[in-house]
Amino acid sequence: MTKRVLGIIGGSGVYNIDGLENPTWKKIETPWGDPSDALLFGTYAGVDMVFLPRHGRGHVQTPTTINYRANIDAMKRAGVTDLISVSACGSLKEELPPGTFVIVDQFIDRTFAREKSFFGPGFVAHVPMAHPVCPALSNALVEAAAQENIRHAKGGTYICMEGPQFSTLAESHLYRSWNCAVIGMTAMPEAKLAREAELPYALVGMVTDYDCWHPDHEHVTVDAVIKVIHENAANARKIVCAVAERLTGTRKPSPLGIETVLDVAVMTAPEK
Ligand code: ADE
Repeated sequence: MTKRVLGIIGGSGVYNIDGLENPTWKKIETPWGDPSDALLFGTYAGVDMVFLPRHGRGHVQTPTTINYRANIDAMKRAGVTDLISVSACGSLKEELPPGTFVIVDQFIDRTFAREKSFFGPGFVAHVPMAHPVCPALSNALVEAAAQENIRHAKGGTYICMEGPQFSTLAESHLYRSWNCAVIGMTAMPEAKLAREAELPYALVGMVTDYDCWHPDHEHVTVDAVIKVIHENAANARKIVCAVAERLTGTRKPSPLGIETVLDVAVMTAPEK
């Protein structure tokens, strides 16, 4: 039985996890360069946890300059077996007002200025991404949100834009016409790299605004995003702790075979 180690990548406004036992920040080196920050190791409810602030403490990395490969590789080296990503995002649907936690199940990747793979010339691999999140981890998030009485939605498509500017009105309407639920700047290539690293991954999007499409709401600004993040910080902490409490039992392999996905993904012929 694999010992479970729960990894948490915190987004804007989530730079720490209070209440961990034996909290220790440790720097991890990777062949891909430096992760966004040191990693915070600790335990909660008997579960080993590792936390990484995606933008670094003090919010120093932009969505484009985040070293996603180093972040995922550092989590893997830290022994993480299950990875949960917490991410602020805009709502593209009326029924997902600010304060809602969306446990997303699909992504559209519109980023174009980021390193997206651990593989390359000399070692070519193509991992399946049809189902980009781990259903078991996502279910744990849904159950945790319900238990904590947090307004939440099960499923929804997260569109990831390059940024750093927010969307134009035309873009916002376009993404709505694609039936996207939320928009953010950081889930990609994080989710793709987690799959390449054979790490079960799930994402909870914390809705902070209605982007710019809603006629009755102000267009998104950083001030508005930060205000809602602060209002939701307690819920973010609650959902993470409630998930940890649910993951204390035996760790079953992901139904999608995520932990062995590279067995069927490598194109390059083995050396003779
Ligand atoms: N993060 C929070 N709100 C956002 C929005 N409206 N667009 C992109 N990223 C966001």
